[in-house]
Amino acid sequence: MDEATQIRLTVNGRGHTLAVGPRSADVAPSDTLAHTLRHVMGLTGTKVSCDRGACGMCTVLLDGRAVLSCSLLTVECDGSSVTTVEGLADPETGGLHPLQQAFVDHTAFQCGFCTPGILMSTKALLDENPEPTVGEVQEALAGNHCRCITHYHVLEAVQDAAGRMREAALEPGPTVSESSSNAPERDVATGTR
Ligand code: FES
Ligand code: FES
Repeated sequence: MDEATQIRLTVNGRGHTLAVGPRSADVAPSDTLAHTLRHVMGLTGTKVSCDRGACGMCTVLLDGRAVLSCSLLTVECDGSSVTTVEGLADPETGGLHPLQQAFVDHTAFQCGFCTPGILMSTKALLDENPEPTVGEVQEALAGNHCRCITHYHVLEAVQDAAGRMREAALEPGPTVSESSSNAPERDVATGTR
């Protein structure tokens, strides 16, 4: 295959070489990252609602930054590293990330459709700022809409998660996992299909 028709992505720690072309198995030049993640890679934890950059539901990490995957072309992401909500779980145990567990413990979701995007925006925030104020959390999540109005519970969960992640970072041995390509999907706190 011609190198020029391929792109490379690392998704949840696993490398992928994708052909760009017109076949159904290919990535079309007009495909969004959200489409590729969901329909080519089967990573349906990433949700699409507005499909126009307005709701935040499709948020993933691109090289560590929170981005709207409905508003990025997959071909623009060539050479990048993507983390989706499936990549939050512990790669060895499959256990929930402390962030996910805090959302469960605080019942910080109802239908769960917005939850993967909120989790990924929060992950980006806490990676950069391990001890955010409530105002900083609100600002970081301002682009993540929730139709079920779970915002107050989300704020509690994020503050709790930040504490858990700081504690985990202080413990000896492996720290909080970044990603896993083999981790099982979870319905709770990763969103439903
Ligand atoms: S689905 Fe991407 S911002 Fe709404
Ligand atoms: S929990 Fe339903 S949209 Fe947020």
